[in-house]
Amino acid sequence: MYHSAYLAELHDFFYDSFDSSNGDANTYLDAYKEMRAGRPLNGPEDEFIFVDIACGTGRVFRELANNLVQCGEPSDSTQFIGLDYSAHMLKRAIERMPESLSHSIKYVQGSAMELSAMKEFQGPPTVDLMIISGGSITTLGGGSGQAEKFLAQAAGVLRPETGRLLISVLYMYDDSRKAETAKMMEQMTENPFSQDTKSVLFPGILYRPGQENCRQEGNLLYWDIPVEVIKKDEKGVESVIEKDVASVGGRVWQDGEVPLLAAAAGLELVETRFNSNETAIPEPIVTGLDVSYTLDRDYGEG
Ligand SMILES: C[S@@+](CC[C@H](N)C(=O)[O-])C[C@H]1O[C@@H](n2cnc3c(N)ncnc32)[C@H](O)[C@@H]1O
Repeated sequence: MYHSAYLAELHDFFYDSFDSSNGDANTYLDAYKEMRAGRPLNGPEDEFIFVDIACGTGRVFRELANNLVQCGEPSDSTQFIGLDYSAHMLKRAIERMPESLSHSIKYVQGSAMELSAMKEFQGPPTVDLMIISGGSITTLGGGSGQAEKFLAQAAGVLRPETGRLLISVLYMYDDSRKAETAKMMEQMTENPFSQDTKSVLFPGILYRPGQENCRQEGNLLYWDIPVEVIKKDEKGVESVIEKDVASVGGRVWQDGEVPLLAAAAGLELVETRFNSNETAIPEPIVTGLDVSYTLDRDYGEG
Protein backbone atom coordinates (compact mmCIF):
# COMPACT_ATOMS: atom_id res chain seq x y z
CA MET A 1 0.00 0.00 0.00
CA TYR A 2 2.79 2.48 0.91
CA HIS A 3 4.61 1.74 -2.30
CA SER A 4 5.90 5.25 -2.85
CA ALA A 5 7.97 7.82 -1.00
CA TYR A 6 5.15 10.29 -1.63
CA LEU A 7 2.61 8.16 0.22
CA ALA A 8 5.06 7.79 3.11
CA GLU A 9 5.32 11.59 3.34
CA LEU A 10 1.54 11.93 3.17
CA HIS A 11 1.19 9.39 5.98
CA ASP A 12 3.45 11.53 8.14
CA PHE A 13 1.61 14.74 7.26
CA PHE A 14 -1.58 13.13 8.37
CA TYR A 15 -0.29 11.68 11.65
CA ASP A 16 1.75 14.77 12.50
CA SER A 17 -1.29 17.01 11.96
CA PHE A 18 -3.35 15.42 14.69
CA ASP A 19 -1.87 15.63 18.18
CA SER A 20 -4.41 13.01 19.10
CA SER A 21 -2.66 10.46 16.86
CA ASN A 22 -0.11 10.18 19.63
CA GLY A 23 -2.72 9.66 22.33
CA ASP A 24 -1.31 6.15 22.68
CA ALA A 25 2.16 7.29 23.81
CA ASN A 26 1.55 6.70 27.51
CA THR A 27 0.20 3.23 26.89
CA TYR A 28 3.48 2.16 25.32
CA LEU A 29 5.63 4.04 27.82
CA ASP A 30 3.82 2.40 30.75
CA ALA A 31 3.95 -1.04 29.14
CA TYR A 32 7.67 -0.70 28.44
CA LYS A 33 8.49 0.52 31.95
CA GLU A 34 6.42 -2.20 33.59
CA MET A 35 7.69 -5.04 31.42
CA ARG A 36 11.32 -3.90 31.49
CA ALA A 37 11.29 -3.62 35.29
CA GLY A 38 9.72 -7.07 35.58
CA ARG A 39 12.28 -8.92 33.46
CA PRO A 40 15.71 -9.19 35.13
CA LEU A 41 18.46 -9.58 32.53
CA ASN A 42 20.65 -12.68 32.65
CA GLY A 43 24.10 -11.17 32.19
CA PRO A 44 25.57 -8.55 29.87
CA GLU A 45 24.60 -10.41 26.66
CA ASP A 46 20.93 -10.57 27.54
CA GLU A 47 18.63 -7.92 26.04
CA PHE A 48 15.03 -6.92 26.52
CA ILE A 49 13.41 -7.21 23.08
CA PHE A 50 10.68 -4.74 22.08
CA VAL A 51 9.15 -5.19 18.61
CA ASP A 52 6.87 -2.70 16.84
CA ILE A 53 4.96 -4.58 14.11
CA ALA A 54 3.83 -2.52 11.08
CA CYS A 55 5.86 0.35 12.55
CA GLY A 56 5.31 2.68 9.60
CA THR A 57 7.64 5.66 9.85
CA GLY A 58 8.60 4.89 13.45
CA ARG A 59 6.07 7.10 15.22
CA VAL A 60 5.84 4.99 18.38
CA PHE A 61 9.60 4.65 19.00
CA ARG A 62 10.06 8.37 18.34
CA GLU A 63 7.43 9.24 20.91
CA LEU A 64 8.79 6.66 23.34
CA ALA A 65 12.33 8.03 22.99
CA ASN A 66 11.10 11.51 24.00
CA ASN A 67 9.24 10.13 26.96
CA LEU A 68 12.14 7.97 28.15
CA VAL A 69 14.46 10.97 28.09
CA GLN A 70 11.91 13.09 29.95
CA CYS A 71 11.35 10.59 32.72
CA GLY A 72 15.01 9.54 32.94
CA GLU A 73 14.13 5.94 32.22
CA PRO A 74 17.01 3.75 30.96
CA SER A 75 16.93 2.23 27.51
CA ASP A 76 20.28 0.44 27.63
CA SER A 77 20.15 -3.34 27.16
CA THR A 78 16.94 -2.98 25.19
CA GLN A 79 16.81 -3.86 21.51
CA PHE A 80 14.00 -2.00 19.77
CA ILE A 81 12.97 -3.59 16.47
CA GLY A 82 10.60 -1.85 14.08
CA LEU A 83 9.20 -4.10 11.36
CA ASP A 84 7.30 -3.03 8.26
CA TYR A 85 6.98 -4.34 4.74
CA SER A 86 7.23 -0.96 3.06
CA ALA A 87 10.78 0.13 2.26
CA HIS A 88 9.53 3.72 1.82
CA MET A 89 8.04 3.81 5.32
CA LEU A 90 11.22 2.34 6.81
CA LYS A 91 13.39 4.86 4.97
CA ARG A 92 11.43 7.65 6.66
CA ALA A 93 11.66 5.86 10.00
CA ILE A 94 15.45 5.76 9.66
CA GLU A 95 15.61 9.40 8.56
CA ARG A 96 13.50 10.38 11.58
CA MET A 97 15.29 8.10 14.03
CA PRO A 98 15.35 9.63 17.54
CA GLU A 99 18.93 10.41 18.48
CA SER A 100 18.68 9.05 22.02
CA LEU A 101 17.73 5.59 20.72
CA SER A 102 19.68 5.60 17.46
CA HIS A 103 22.01 2.81 18.68
CA SER A 104 19.19 0.71 20.09
CA ILE A 105 16.65 0.74 17.25
CA LYS A 106 16.83 -1.58 14.28
CA TYR A 107 14.34 -1.15 11.43
CA VAL A 108 13.77 -4.28 9.38
CA GLN A 109 11.75 -4.99 6.29
CA GLY A 110 9.46 -7.99 6.57
CA SER A 111 5.91 -9.22 6.81
CA ALA A 112 3.96 -9.53 10.03
CA MET A 113 2.73 -12.84 8.64
CA GLU A 114 6.21 -14.32 8.27
CA LEU A 115 7.96 -13.54 11.54
CA SER A 116 9.17 -17.09 12.07
CA ALA A 117 11.16 -16.94 8.81
CA MET A 118 13.05 -13.78 9.76
CA LYS A 119 16.60 -13.98 11.06
CA GLU A 120 15.74 -11.61 13.94
CA PHE A 121 13.37 -14.25 15.36
CA GLN A 122 15.35 -17.45 14.96
CA GLY A 123 16.20 -19.62 17.96
CA PRO A 124 14.25 -19.75 21.21
CA PRO A 125 11.40 -17.21 21.41
CA THR A 126 12.72 -14.09 23.16
CA VAL A 127 10.43 -11.19 22.32
CA ASP A 128 9.49 -9.52 25.60
CA LEU A 129 7.11 -6.90 24.30
CA MET A 130 5.40 -6.64 20.93
CA ILE A 131 2.99 -3.97 19.80
CA ILE A 132 0.84 -3.42 16.75
CA SER A 133 -0.25 0.20 17.06
CA GLY A 134 -2.55 2.68 15.35
CA GLY A 135 -5.15 0.03 14.50
CA SER A 136 -2.68 -1.67 12.17
CA ILE A 137 -4.11 -5.12 12.84
CA THR A 138 -6.99 -3.99 10.63
CA THR A 139 -4.82 -3.01 7.68
CA LEU A 140 -2.56 -6.06 7.57
CA GLY A 141 -3.30 -6.73 3.94
CA GLY A 142 -7.08 -6.34 4.16
CA GLY A 143 -8.40 -9.79 3.31
CA SER A 144 -9.67 -12.34 5.76
CA GLY A 145 -7.25 -14.54 7.66
CA GLN A 146 -4.40 -12.01 7.86
CA ALA A 147 -4.94 -11.15 11.53
CA GLU A 148 -5.14 -14.84 12.41
CA LYS A 149 -1.86 -15.49 10.61
CA PHE A 150 -0.16 -12.60 12.36
CA LEU A 151 -1.41 -13.68 15.81
CA ALA A 152 -0.12 -17.22 15.28
CA GLN A 153 3.26 -15.82 14.25
CA ALA A 154 3.35 -13.47 17.26
CA ALA A 155 2.54 -16.33 19.63
CA GLY A 156 5.50 -18.23 18.22
CA VAL A 157 8.10 -15.54 18.91
CA LEU A 158 6.93 -14.13 22.25
CA ARG A 159 8.93 -15.16 25.30
CA PRO A 160 7.05 -18.03 26.98
CA GLU A 161 4.94 -17.01 29.96
CA THR A 162 6.12 -13.41 30.20
CA GLY A 163 6.11 -12.10 26.61
CA ARG A 164 3.30 -9.66 25.84
CA LEU A 165 1.54 -8.35 22.79
CA LEU A 166 -0.37 -5.05 22.80
CA ILE A 167 -2.97 -4.76 20.06
CA SER A 168 -4.58 -1.44 19.26
CA VAL A 169 -8.11 -1.47 17.90
CA LEU A 170 -9.38 1.93 16.80
CA TYR A 171 -13.02 2.92 17.18
CA MET A 172 -13.40 3.30 13.45
CA TYR A 173 -12.57 -0.37 13.00
CA ASP A 174 -14.85 -1.54 15.80
CA ASP A 175 -18.41 -2.32 14.71
CA SER A 176 -19.73 -1.90 18.24
CA ARG A 177 -18.58 1.73 18.42
CA LYS A 178 -20.55 3.45 15.69
CA ALA A 179 -21.26 6.58 17.72
CA GLU A 180 -17.59 7.17 18.51
CA THR A 181 -16.70 6.50 14.89
CA ALA A 182 -19.28 9.02 13.66
CA LYS A 183 -17.68 11.66 15.89
CA MET A 184 -14.31 10.79 14.52
CA MET A 185 -15.57 11.09 10.95
CA GLU A 186 -16.82 14.60 11.72
CA GLN A 187 -13.31 15.52 12.74
CA MET A 188 -11.83 13.88 9.67
CA THR A 189 -13.77 16.20 7.34
CA GLU A 190 -11.64 18.98 8.81
CA ASN A 191 -8.50 17.15 7.85
CA PRO A 192 -5.74 19.15 6.15
CA PHE A 193 -5.82 16.95 3.05
CA SER A 194 -9.10 18.23 1.75
CA GLN A 195 -6.93 20.52 -0.39
CA ASP A 196 -3.57 20.67 -2.16
CA THR A 197 -0.64 20.07 0.17
CA LYS A 198 2.92 21.05 -0.65
CA SER A 199 5.61 18.46 -0.16
CA VAL A 200 8.36 19.39 2.27
CA LEU A 201 10.70 16.62 1.17
CA PHE A 202 10.38 16.95 -2.59
CA PRO A 203 10.79 20.42 -4.10
CA GLY A 204 8.10 21.42 -6.57
CA ILE A 205 5.81 18.55 -5.61
CA LEU A 206 2.29 18.91 -4.32
CA TYR A 207 -0.37 16.38 -3.37
CA ARG A 208 -3.93 16.75 -4.58
CA PRO A 209 -6.58 14.59 -2.90
CA GLY A 210 -9.54 13.31 -4.93
CA GLN A 211 -13.01 12.29 -3.81
CA GLU A 212 -12.65 9.69 -1.09
CA ASN A 213 -14.61 6.49 -1.23
CA CYS A 214 -15.68 4.86 2.01
CA ARG A 215 -18.03 1.88 2.32
CA GLN A 216 -18.34 -1.26 4.41
CA GLU A 217 -19.16 -4.69 3.04
CA GLY A 218 -19.59 -7.32 5.73
CA ASN A 219 -16.54 -7.12 7.96
CA LEU A 220 -14.43 -5.25 5.41
CA LEU A 221 -14.13 -1.49 5.31
CA TYR A 222 -13.09 0.03 2.00
CA TRP A 223 -11.75 3.51 2.56
CA ASP A 224 -9.74 4.89 -0.31
CA ILE A 225 -8.45 8.40 -0.84
CA PRO A 226 -7.18 9.00 -4.38
CA VAL A 227 -4.13 11.27 -4.50
CA GLU A 228 -2.43 12.86 -7.47
CA VAL A 229 1.25 13.68 -7.10
CA ILE A 230 1.80 16.86 -9.08
CA LYS A 231 5.04 18.45 -10.21
CA LYS A 232 5.03 22.17 -10.94
CA ASP A 233 7.71 23.57 -13.22
CA GLU A 234 9.25 27.06 -12.90
CA LYS A 235 6.43 28.50 -15.00
CA GLY A 236 3.81 26.96 -12.72
CA VAL A 237 2.75 24.36 -15.28
CA GLU A 238 1.48 21.23 -13.58
CA SER A 239 2.00 17.62 -14.59
CA VAL A 240 0.71 14.57 -12.76
CA ILE A 241 3.70 12.31 -12.11
CA GLU A 242 1.97 9.66 -10.01
CA LYS A 243 -1.60 8.62 -9.28
CA ASP A 244 -1.98 6.86 -5.95
CA VAL A 245 -4.68 5.66 -3.66
CA ALA A 246 -4.15 6.00 0.07
CA SER A 247 -6.15 3.12 1.55
CA VAL A 248 -6.96 3.09 5.23
CA GLY A 249 -9.55 0.35 5.15
CA GLY A 250 -9.37 -3.27 6.19
CA ARG A 251 -11.03 -5.61 8.61
CA VAL A 252 -13.71 -4.39 11.00
CA TRP A 253 -14.15 -6.13 14.36
CA GLN A 254 -17.10 -7.27 16.38
CA ASP A 255 -17.05 -6.54 20.10
CA GLY A 256 -14.49 -8.87 21.71
CA GLU A 257 -13.51 -10.54 18.45
CA VAL A 258 -9.80 -9.72 18.60
CA PRO A 259 -9.18 -11.43 21.98
CA LEU A 260 -11.08 -14.47 20.69
CA LEU A 261 -8.80 -14.74 17.67
CA ALA A 262 -5.79 -14.22 19.91
CA ALA A 263 -6.95 -16.98 22.24
CA ALA A 264 -7.22 -19.31 19.24
CA ALA A 265 -3.56 -18.51 18.51
CA GLY A 266 -2.57 -19.52 22.07
CA LEU A 267 -2.49 -16.06 23.64
CA GLU A 268 -4.18 -15.27 26.90
CA LEU A 269 -5.96 -11.96 27.51
CA VAL A 270 -4.30 -10.10 30.38
CA GLU A 271 -5.93 -6.72 30.19
CA THR A 272 -8.19 -4.48 28.10
CA ARG A 273 -7.48 -0.76 28.25
CA PHE A 274 -9.77 1.96 27.03
CA ASN A 275 -7.67 4.87 26.17
CA SER A 276 -8.66 8.10 24.46
CA ASN A 277 -6.99 11.38 23.90
CA GLU A 278 -9.33 13.98 25.30
CA THR A 279 -7.12 17.01 25.48
CA ALA A 280 -5.62 17.78 22.09
CA ILE A 281 -8.86 18.65 20.34
CA PRO A 282 -11.98 20.50 21.48
CA GLU A 283 -14.36 17.56 21.03
CA PRO A 284 -13.38 14.85 23.50
CA ILE A 285 -12.89 11.20 22.65
CA VAL A 286 -12.25 11.27 18.99
CA THR A 287 -9.24 9.52 17.68
CA GLY A 288 -5.91 8.11 18.75
CA LEU A 289 -5.64 4.76 20.40
CA ASP A 290 -8.99 3.79 21.77
CA VAL A 291 -8.88 0.20 22.77
CA SER A 292 -5.81 -1.85 23.35
CA TYR A 293 -5.66 -5.44 24.29
CA THR A 294 -2.69 -6.80 26.16
CA LEU A 295 -2.10 -10.46 25.61
CA ASP A 296 0.28 -12.87 27.20
CA ARG A 297 1.73 -15.83 25.50
CA ASP A 298 -0.02 -18.69 27.23
CA TYR A 299 2.64 -21.34 27.14
CA GLY A 300 0.45 -24.03 28.63
CA GLU A 301 -1.92 -24.12 25.67
CA GLY A 302 0.40 -22.72 22.97
C1 LIG B 1 -1.11 3.32 8.99
S1 LIG B 1 0.51 2.67 9.06
C2 LIG B 1 0.61 2.62 10.83
C3 LIG B 1 1.99 2.75 11.35
C4 LIG B 1 2.18 2.60 12.84
N1 LIG B 1 1.67 1.34 13.35
C5 LIG B 1 1.64 3.76 13.63
O1 LIG B 1 0.68 3.57 14.40
O2 LIG B 1 2.18 4.86 13.51
C6 LIG B 1 0.32 0.92 8.67
C7 LIG B 1 1.64 0.26 8.34
O3 LIG B 1 1.43 -1.14 8.27
C8 LIG B 1 2.34 -1.67 7.31
N2 LIG B 1 1.90 -3.04 6.96
C9 LIG B 1 0.71 -3.41 6.42
N3 LIG B 1 0.65 -4.74 6.28
C10 LIG B 1 1.83 -5.24 6.76
C11 LIG B 1 2.37 -6.55 6.90
N4 LIG B 1 1.68 -7.62 6.50
N5 LIG B 1 3.59 -6.69 7.42
C12 LIG B 1 4.31 -5.61 7.82
N6 LIG B 1 3.85 -4.34 7.71
C13 LIG B 1 2.62 -4.15 7.19
C14 LIG B 1 2.28 -0.64 6.19
O4 LIG B 1 3.40 -0.72 5.33
C15 LIG B 1 2.23 0.66 7.00
O5 LIG B 1 3.51 1.19 7.19
